[in-house]
Parts: sequence; structure tokens; C-alpha cells
Amino acid sequence: MRTATAPGKVILLGEHSVVFGETALAAALPFGVTVRAEARASGGVELVAPLAPKGDPRVMEAVRLVARELGVESTRLEVDTDLPVGGGLGSSAAFAVAACRALAPQPVSNDEMNRIAFLAEQLFHGTPSGVDHSVSIHGGIIRFRRGPPVQVERVVPKRPLRLVVAFTGKTRQTSANVAALRKRVEEDPARYRPIVERLGALAEGGASDVETGALAALGGLMDEAHALLASCELSSPELDAIVAAAKGAGALGAKLTGAGGGGSAIALCDDAAPVAAAIAARGFGARIVELAS
Ligand code: PMV
Repeated sequence: MRTATAPGKVILLGEHSVVFGETALAAALPFGVTVRAEARASGGVELVAPLAPKGDPRVMEAVRLVARELGVESTRLEVDTDLPVGGGLGSSAAFAVAACRALAPQPVSNDEMNRIAFLAEQLFHGTPSGVDHSVSIHGGIIRFRRGPPVQVERVVPKRPLRLVVAFTGKTRQTSANVAALRKRVEEDPARYRPIVERLGALAEGGASDVETGALAALGGLMDEAHALLASCELSSPELDAIVAAAKGAGALGAKLTGAGGGGSAIALCDDAAPVAAAIAARGFGARIVELAS
């Protein structure tokens, strides 16, 4: 029996624009997905997964794909997570990475894990940028560009980032939201191209702010990103309510994270407890995390 874990993620800045080749700034969470793999002589691949939304065939397909790529014919996998599935916190990518780590007969390189997890992510999301599994593999905070070639650089925070991560309770399909923005950009490039470029510039600026510890400035960039994403109809009443509650309770900045339209939001805080309490008072799950490296 081999047990492996991989972290979920938040996108601090640059979701959606990253699909168009702009920079994204993403951070691994201190929680994620655990996979326990038991080798078997025969019997194919069996999955015991509270994680798997019942009836979602993609989870089993992804497991089979990972096993096949690693040359594993028979195994029993148990999966566990404290990430909301379909909640914008990278559960599918963390699942693919943890499955690679647990199933591999010998340690796999990051490049090989990247290749396999990307194939699995394509099953879930169609045409993902790759930011989710990249940050799950590398950990920490990364500046990411899809390329080609893919660029992943570590961003070392001068001061720890204190975040409240809040889940709306609503799941959504990343691929549908990505397709909706793509359609908007194609139909009205004069309006939407500059927004995409600005979102990328915010991610670049945010990476510098993380490195210099300019957290108030970073919060301002997050606020602007949320407004821009909302102007592309990627927010939701729940996400806007979380953002408003967070700002009202003193957050330095707050925004949706991931594909939007549901899923999760993040708030950057000096003092996270009152922000988490204000979000929880509106009926949303809120979790305080500190990102220190
Ligand atoms: O699946 P999510 O919610 O983690 O969103 C992924 C981020 C997007 O930029 C919206 C899509 C992508 O492939 O990068």
C-alpha cells in the first residue's frame, strides 16, 4: 500500500486570462487529495472514492489513464479529500497528481507527472491551461504561463499571505465558463481583449507584490481582478456576497478564484479571523490559510 498526497490550489490572480497565454499567479493550499494505492496481481483498476461525484465517469477514466501511462494494470485505489469537488480549488488536478505519486512503481519526475496529469486534466476540463496541476506538482506559489513552452517560476513571499478561502457551496463546470469567455473574446475582441491583457498584467504585478511583501497593493490588484472578471459575467451573487462581506470586514482584497460562476472566493487579510467570521455569518464555509513559502 502506498499513500501519496497532492495539494489543492488557489489562483491569486490570472484565472481565465491564463488560457489566452497571459501570466497567472497561483498558490498551493495546505490541504488537498490523498490517494492510497494497493498493488494487485490481477483484477484491473478498482476505485473507492468518496471524492468521486457519483456517476461522474471522468474520475474512473482519469484513474485508468494514469494507471495505463504508468504501466500499472491492476490496483485498488482509495481517494480522500478535504477540497470541495468542482469548487474551484483544483481537486481534479490534485487527484491526478496524487494518483500519479501513489501508483508509480518508482518515483516519477516532475516532467513525467506534468505530462500525465495534463492528460487527466484534459479529460475533466477539455482545454485546461495547466496551471492547476503545475502548482499541485510544484507546491508553493508560482508564476505560470501556458506557453509553449510552459513557464513555471517559484515566487517566494517576503511576508506570509493570510487568506480566507470561502466556498459558495455551488459547483460548476470549468470548461463551460472557459468556453463562455472565449466566445465573448471572439465576438467582441475590442472590448474583451484589453480585459484579458489587464488580468495578465495584474498577475505580473501581483507576483512582484508577493515578492516585495506589498500586501495592501496586492489586495488592490485582487479587487480590480474581481471587478474585471465580474464584468465578463464570471462572478455570481454568492461570490459577490463573499467578496462584499470580506471587504466589509477589513480584507485587503477579495476576489473569485478559479473558473467562477460558483466555486470559491479568496480574501487577503491582515487579520483573517473577523473576515472568516463575516463570511461564515452569510452562510458560507470559510477557512483561514497561511501561505509562507
Ligand atoms: O477549474 P478551476 O476552477 O480551478 O479553474 C481553472 C482556471 C481557469 O483559468 C479558469 C481555467 C484554466 O484552464 O486555467
